[in-house]
Amino acid sequence: MKKLLYQFDTDPLPAVFDNVVGYDGGADHIGAYGGVTAANVGGLVEGAIFTRGPKDKKNTAIFIGGGNVAQGQALLDAVRRKFFAKFRVSVMFDCNGSNTTAAAAVAWLAHGRSLQGKRAVVLAGTGPVGQRAAALLASEGAAVAITGRKLEVVQAACQAIKTRFGTEVRPIAAATAAERGSAVEGAHIALATGASGITLLEARQWQESPSLELVADANASPPAGIEGVGMADRGTESHGKILYGPLGFGALKLSLHRACIAKLFEQNDLLLDAEEIYALAKSMVG
Ligand SMILES: NC(=O)c1ccc[n+]([C@@H]2O[C@H](COP(=O)([O-])OP(=O)(O)OC[C@H]3O[C@@H](n4cnc5c(N)ncnc54)[C@H](OP(=O)(O)O)[C@@H]3O)[C@@H](O)[C@H]2O)c1
Repeated sequence: MKKLLYQFDTDPLPAVFDNVVGYDGGADHIGAYGGVTAANVGGLVEGAIFTRGPKDKKNTAIFIGGGNVAQGQALLDAVRRKFFAKFRVSVMFDCNGSNTTAAAAVAWLAHGRSLQGKRAVVLAGTGPVGQRAAALLASEGAAVAITGRKLEVVQAACQAIKTRFGTEVRPIAAATAAERGSAVEGAHIALATGASGITLLEARQWQESPSLELVADANASPPAGIEGVGMADRGTESHGKILYGPLGFGALKLSLHRACIAKLFEQNDLLLDAEEIYALAKSMVG
């Protein structure tokens, strides 16, 4: 029986990245659909749940992606509403790589140390990766703030985190490097999750910080999101801080994504969202 993955993407064109990793994770065939919404997904889900017998349903699975986490969340809810009794298949949610990237970054930050009581700032944390990373850092006991350029956008992101995870995250408006430097004053952890190729913090801002212990950058497209953090840093020590770069934890992100795809085909009722993916990341890190 072939392992079939249905890739539902809220963007018009389904992501090639998710398609490739789907195959590398063990799918035999991937049906990739773009422009999938909560309103039009019903028939697609019916096709997935009504076609194979109970023992064989684990060979069909759904992946939800796309650049907009809120739309993806609505799509996930719509997919799950179609399930009933044994008529269900396993689902993975990873809009814009948000869960796998955030889980890999935070799993490395928490590896071999406690984040309990640490103060963490997620720079440009309003995007998909930043929101998930903020929630995961809070789940490790850190007091978390996220920054963004406009206060109302940051507040909306904090509200979205609270709605989804029940977690309080402090919003900080910081549109300039100087304001982001002020935002990390007194913090122990700075994690940059800004858009590709945007530098959020200058080197001296973290190098001269008396409080920062861990500095991590998710942006893999030059220039660096945090100046002076190397792409491949993974626990590198510099200026008394421990550094993690995008490729440093990106290896775990990729193997985590593949492992999640493989798990989808082990049973027909698995949900792999932030919490489940983070638990798997913690079991794989190191
Ligand atoms: N290392 C890995 O394995 C891996 C995997 C996947 C993704 N990534 C990277 O992770 C990062 C975060 O991904 P994402 O999808 O969450 O990012 P995103 O949504 O594209 O951007 C995140 C935030 O960046 C801010 N931003 C955008 N343009 C900016 C500018 N000109 N100046 C300052 N801030 C700006 C925005 O916040 P405001 O509008 O609120 O300011 C936005 O919400 C990206 O760099 C992505 O490439 C890495």
